[in-house]
Amino acid sequence: MSEHLFATLRRWPDLEAPNLFAVDASDRLILDEAATELSDLQAGELVVMGDNYGALTLGAAALSGCRGIRVFQDSLVGELALTSNAGELADSYESHTLNESLLSGARLVLMQLPRSLAELDEWAQAIARFAAHDVTVIAGGRLKHMTLSMNEVLARSFNDVSAGRARQKSRTLTAVGARHPADDLRYPATSVLREPELPVDELTVSAHGGAFAGATLDLGTRFLLTFLPEMKSDAARAIDLGSGTGVLATSLAVARPKLSVVAIDQSTAAVASTRETADANGVGARVEAAREDALTERPTASADLIVCNPPFHTGATVHAGVALRMLADARRVLKPGGELWVVFNTHLGYRDYLNRTVGPTRQAGRNSKFTVTVSVRE
Ligand SMILES: C[S@@+](CC[C@H](N)C(=O)[O-])C[C@H]1O[C@@H](n2cnc3c(N)ncnc32)[C@H](O)[C@@H]1O
Repeated sequence: MSEHLFATLRRWPDLEAPNLFAVDASDRLILDEAATELSDLQAGELVVMGDNYGALTLGAAALSGCRGIRVFQDSLVGELALTSNAGELADSYESHTLNESLLSGARLVLMQLPRSLAELDEWAQAIARFAAHDVTVIAGGRLKHMTLSMNEVLARSFNDVSAGRARQKSRTLTAVGARHPADDLRYPATSVLREPELPVDELTVSAHGGAFAGATLDLGTRFLLTFLPEMKSDAARAIDLGSGTGVLATSLAVARPKLSVVAIDQSTAAVASTRETADANGVGARVEAAREDALTERPTASADLIVCNPPFHTGATVHAGVALRMLADARRVLKPGGELWVVFNTHLGYRDYLNRTVGPTRQAGRNSKFTVTVSVRE
């Protein structure tokens, strides 16, 4: 039964390739370890967090008959994949953002461990704060992505954290005994960046746990920001594609008082962080933070300028195709004469791709690690 269900799951609209899978051994292990708890639950008592493409949610619905499942997926692409995989199980779950309505009254949380410790910390803190006092968390992942620090992070919000036995290079951690010191809210984290070489004097950054680079400045972003004065001077509408904490979008809005910026990210944590970063720097009215998959929702010929520090992984999988998929639509969305500015690790060599898919592309700069290119839509 489960193998039949799992065989039908797809990653779409995320990147699909023969070596990329919609279900892995850690999904199966989490469901197996939770089998007893799942059979005892009432409708509405199960929460699923970090489900990659729906295996946990649909597995719990199909194998244990769970209904009223509340689901939080930071990634919009994961959420769209769950919707597209759900079929006749579509009414067994509801998607939520990371807040009280996701977790209130929850007695069991199944979780794919997120990549970053800060993200795990924010999730664990939310569970301890909002779920039922006797909640059990069964969190799993692939051994190669797990560290002992994950136990320590869970132990900040739970009295008892234990590791299960490894199976097929996967393991679960079980946490019980939620505790939540009311005065210890660690997210969003904030910092104030002051970097003499950058085109803005000072930038306050707000970062939720899952946001790329946290409240620090990524080195690639830092390099791209030094080219801000060279970017299309008469631009009225810009897009920050994959906005993370909103550092690029906010810097553009601060440096150019007439510019409107749409900051796009598929991550819930990134969109919330971008909103807060823009507000904290007084440009919230000119920065729209949108949770969207790449440029799919953007109208044709609607932007004068797109800036992008693209991702190099999808979930835990490092794959060059992720960035290319994200940039694929830039030509359609740019107005004629519009510019796409991209920073990437030089060895990735995206320039030929940009030449072919967007328009004439030149190298604007290069340092020991990164290349910045500008492509012009003809
Ligand atoms: C390398 S980070 C750059 C973040 C930020 N612009 C910065 O420079 O610090 C790439 C960002 O792309 C986002 N991303 C990945 N896939 C995406 C997609 N399909 N659509 C929109 N954003 C995506 C990630 O969530 C991440 O925030």
